[in-house]
Amino acid sequence: MNKKISPKKIGRNDPCICGSGKKYKKCCMNADNNRIALKSEYEKKYDIILKTPDQIKGIKKSGRLLLSILDKVEKFIKPGITTNMINSLVHEEHVRAGAIPAPLNYKGFPKSVCTSVNEVICHGIPSDQVLKDGDIINVDVTPILGGFYADASKTFFVGTPTNDGRKVTNIARKALKKGIDAVKPGATLGDLGFAIQNYSESNGCSVVREFIGHGVGIEFHEQPQVLHYGVRGTGIKLVPGMVFTIEPMVNLGKKELHILDDNWTAVTNDHSLSAQFEQTILVTETGYESLTPFEL
Ligand code: MF3
Ligand code: CO
Ligand code: CO
Repeated sequence: MNKKISPKKIGRNDPCICGSGKKYKKCCMNADNNRIALKSEYEKKYDIILKTPDQIKGIKKSGRLLLSILDKVEKFIKPGITTNMINSLVHEEHVRAGAIPAPLNYKGFPKSVCTSVNEVICHGIPSDQVLKDGDIINVDVTPILGGFYADASKTFFVGTPTNDGRKVTNIARKALKKGIDAVKPGATLGDLGFAIQNYSESNGCSVVREFIGHGVGIEFHEQPQVLHYGVRGTGIKLVPGMVFTIEPMVNLGKKELHILDDNWTAVTNDHSLSAQFEQTILVTETGYESLTPFEL
């Protein structure tokens, strides 16, 4: 389907709406036309929806809710609680804010949040599992607020981390930072994949291949696919208005994984620890803006 982009309402010789006092054709007209052309090119060629300022506002608002939920989760996590208790907290916080937890019933996922403990890479299902001192746990939250999705996750320490837990968590956090720092218009998806892979592997860890970042905002998983490994200069060129997640899963041991019989839980084959951080990133005119910002 070819969606029509709304027709321009300002005439070439009308005063520009930016308030410069110049005629539109002498002011913002070219830039506007370029944006319209780029939007339709990315939609046709890659099925990527470049976001409008209003859509970005909506995703940001959803992101603010997400961060407030992650803050509550962080304060709540301690030895002795169950992952089901995290699910209840996260679910209630969505309801209270008038939001929907996107994971619930997504392709049959049975809970409102993913809780991935120790050797679980991602898509851990909240259960009666009791958290114990020294565990690490990734909590991945995706609210739909006003129709807009934001997607982010953090790995938390339960009590006092082990040396291995601290190491893999810190490397996953910094790997996300390296990926985000590579985001700017004109860079490619391969540039950020390379940055993440290079950093993680230089530090003796491995990067999971089977799960990747993704466009997000209007739907849970949109184009493009964002690989956390790659070759510099390859892949789709980043342009302003792209919104996607970066969410490297970093293993202390080898990268290979298997899925448990529940059809969701992804576990490292060598049972080494795995950690992950995720943010929703907007490509701006000059670089990037995180729509789910937290310190890395
Ligand atoms: N939030 C995950 C992501 O980052 C997706 C979880 S899908 C679910 O893409 F069904 F497991 F919730
Ligand atoms: Co995601
Ligand atoms: Co997520």
